[in-house]
Formats: sequence, structure tokens, C-alpha cells
Amino acid sequence: MQLSKQQLDTYERDGFLVMPGLFSADEIRAMKADLERIQKVDTDHLVRERTGGIAKTIYRVHEADGPTASAVFHAAARSPRLLKPAQALLGDEALYVYHTKCNLKTAIDGSVWQWHQDYGTWKKDGVSEPSLTTALIMLDEPTQFNGCLYFIPGSHKVGNLDPQFDESTAYKFWVVPKERLLEIMERSPEPVPITGEPGTVVFFHPNILHASGHNLSRHDRWAIYIVYNPVVNRPNDVPNPRPDYVRSTNFTPLIAGTDDILAADSAAEVTA
Ligand code: SIN
Ligand code: MN
Repeated sequence: MQLSKQQLDTYERDGFLVMPGLFSADEIRAMKADLERIQKVDTDHLVRERTGGIAKTIYRVHEADGPTASAVFHAAARSPRLLKPAQALLGDEALYVYHTKCNLKTAIDGSVWQWHQDYGTWKKDGVSEPSLTTALIMLDEPTQFNGCLYFIPGSHKVGNLDPQFDESTAYKFWVVPKERLLEIMERSPEPVPITGEPGTVVFFHPNILHASGHNLSRHDRWAIYIVYNPVVNRPNDVPNPRPDYVRSTNFTPLIAGTDDILAADSAAEVTA
């Protein structure tokens, strides 16, 4: 799949690009079925909500080994329909997967993600340049009621803001300090809700300011994030690096697979 000049310009201007209908209903069904299976696994690759032990986040579903391995996500991460746009957006052919993260924002229990830039954390991982891109695949229909993501358009151009570590939620991470956030919001366009049909893909820049609220609805809002990083931008050594499932050390460039991810799914030998 080739991106048009207009799509490349949109990403450059807004910091994100929405591509509806990239995955079919059957493919999304297969992805969700595999996450139903994986969310029951007892592993440190999975963060649970404070309430009831429900899975909030599942990592590293894109590799062929490990406790959260998934054939369908292994195939999706390498499918030309994701890999080619990622290569075009980053202007680099040699990419690897920095990490995959499935956020199961489950009905009623699914909780907030505070305003942050992803590169706020990745810089601390030792990544020198914010030249990564994330492909979000909608597995359910995100709405404002069930806790969809919000982006501040163009905010990737503010550069890297000095983040502060927040421990108030089950998922502890680096967020944008409130004073700085308010100051940027005052001079930025209003945040936009990122809604769409399941199967929609959204590519976004690692410095874009984003957040999402609690899921107050009776519907799940599941999504997967596949982060692509150029091999040349792999992290430098840092003291006490985060584990491999969030900061992958598999720097082998991805080889484009097939767009027939369900065929690849049944053929793949993914071992638990
Ligand atoms: C994230 O920004 O990393 C997750 C946000 C969400 O899934 O709502
Ligand atoms: Mn994020």
C-alpha cells in the first residue's frame, strides 16, 4: 500500500493519519479471539486494572515466542499494509518493532490514560530521535463514551516536553506536567476524539500529545498499538533498561510478509 502525498502531508501537519477499513471484520474477529485467550495468561507481560484483576495492557504479541505470542499479530505487524506505510512515514526501509501493546479498555472497568507523549518514555529508554511511528488498530469501535483516544492536532511539533512520573493509576508512566499541558492547550486546536469502525488504523507521531478517559459504557474498547522504529534509532544503553517486552532488543529488520494474515495465522508456528 502506497501513501499519497496528501496522506504524508496530513501526518506531517497533524501528527496522525487515519486509515479506515484497513482490516476486515474477520481479521478483527481473529485478533480479538486471540486476545481473549492471552488475557488469561499469568505473566509479567500483562498489566491488570486495579479493579478485579481485569487485563488493562498486554505486551509483546508480535513475536513468535514468549507467553503472549500470537500468530495473527505476528502476521499483522509484518503485513505490507502496515509495514509499507510505516516505512514511507519514517523514510526508512529497515524497521523493527519497538513494542506491541494491546489496551483492553474493558466496559465499566477500563481506566484513564493521562496526557502524555510516548517519546517521553522512549527517550528515557535511550532512544535518541523521535523518529518512530505507531500504528493503532481499532479492535472495537472507540467512542467518546467508551474512552476513545484524544489527540491535540499538531502537538508533535512542540518537541519533547520534560515529563513527570505518575503513579496514580495501575499503569505507572511518564506524563506531561499539568502547568505545561494547560499552557500548550491554550494555544492549540481543541483535542480531537479518535473514533472509527473496527479495522481502522491510525498512524501517529511519538511526540503527539494524547490521552483517553475511563470507559463508562457497557462496551469494550480494545485496541492494539504496534510501534515501528528504524534499526538505526535503536536505543542506546541505559542503566536499568526496561524489560524486553516494552523495549525490544530484537533489532532484526522486519521482512514484509503477506497481507493474507489469516492464512499466515494458521500456518505460523507460534510457541507459547
Ligand atoms: C496510550 O496512549 O499508550 C494508550 C491510550 C489508550 O489506549 O487509550
Ligand atoms: Mn501513549
